Amino acid sequence: MTTAAPQQLLDDAALTETALTEIFDGLAKTAAPKLVDAMRYAAMAGGKRMRAGLVLGAARLASGESNPSGATQVAASFECLHAYSLIHDDLPAMDDAETRRGKPSCHIAFDEATAILAGDALQTLAFELLADPDLHPDGGVRAGLVHDLATASGITGMAGGQMLDLEAETRRFDLDETRIMQAMKTGALIKASAVAGGRIGGADEHLLTALAAYADHLGLAFQIADDLLDRQSDAAAMGKPTGRDETAGKASFVEAMGMEAASKEAQKLVENANTILAEAVENSTVWLDYMTKISSFSIGRSH
Ligand code: IPE
Ligand code: IPE
Ligand code: MG
Ligand code: MG
Ligand code: MG
Repeated sequence: MTTAAPQQLLDDAALTETALTEIFDGLAKTAAPKLVDAMRYAAMAGGKRMRAGLVLGAARLASGESNPSGATQVAASFECLHAYSLIHDDLPAMDDAETRRGKPSCHIAFDEATAILAGDALQTLAFELLADPDLHPDGGVRAGLVHDLATASGITGMAGGQMLDLEAETRRFDLDETRIMQAMKTGALIKASAVAGGRIGGADEHLLTALAAYADHLGLAFQIADDLLDRQSDAAAMGKPTGRDETAGKASFVEAMGMEAASKEAQKLVENANTILAEAVENSTVWLDYMTKISSFSIGRSH
């Protein structure tokens, strides 16, 4: 059964896209406008904006405010980093995917060299947005955010996980190796989104730890759902090629345990995620409810 995106996530997607548009408009005057076009092409139009939703939801949960200062800029940063990861993931040398978010992939719409550079520039833009002195008066908070994003994106996170994902095409991964690969390539950025939201919203250590544990479970469930959808859905619904993971020899929970068990595992992970967060927050609030809805959507989504 599919779950509709929560209205708040749709609102947060619009909020983040407005911020991204302003950022790209501001960059259009630079000396390489073609690169800005490619960055904008990949980062805008489409995308569920789940990482942005996690940043904004966690920031509100921590602060109790509906519009916590700086949270939208942090959400935009995480979506830039994510867009970069998708551009590179689609390159011929990686998954060789010709569509993304219902449009030609960046390297098809532009060219490979421009797509590589657009990914590079989106990645550094993500860090620029977090290091911005106007984001938060406390340099320690900004450094924490930069550190979170760096560890989630590099060798210990997304890039390292993508390396393992490619290695899995040539040798069999057991379930533990698969779990580690998934946690790195997808889970790390999802976890960092929730933690960064907490950080910009002023969360204490107790809440930051709970947000990390919540998103750890959610991140794994999210990738299981992606792998299930690769088998169950079609390119028109997904906006990207489907049915290729099996032939490429990708390691996944679906590959290791079958669709039914993988789906149950994802369900269990989401229940655990929601329990962990609910136990850490004294009073049930509308923002706790939002975080619960995001995690349910992560596995109930249709694309
Ligand atoms: C796709 O992520 C890549 C994975 C980590 C599985 P999303 O499914 O969040 O992609 P968008 O942002 O909604 O397009
Ligand atoms: C995650 O895995 C990709 C990234 C970490 C960027 P996939 O390769 O399965 O993602 P999709 O299916 O292409 O979106
Ligand atoms: Mg991939
Ligand atoms: Mg891919
Ligand atoms: Mg996939």
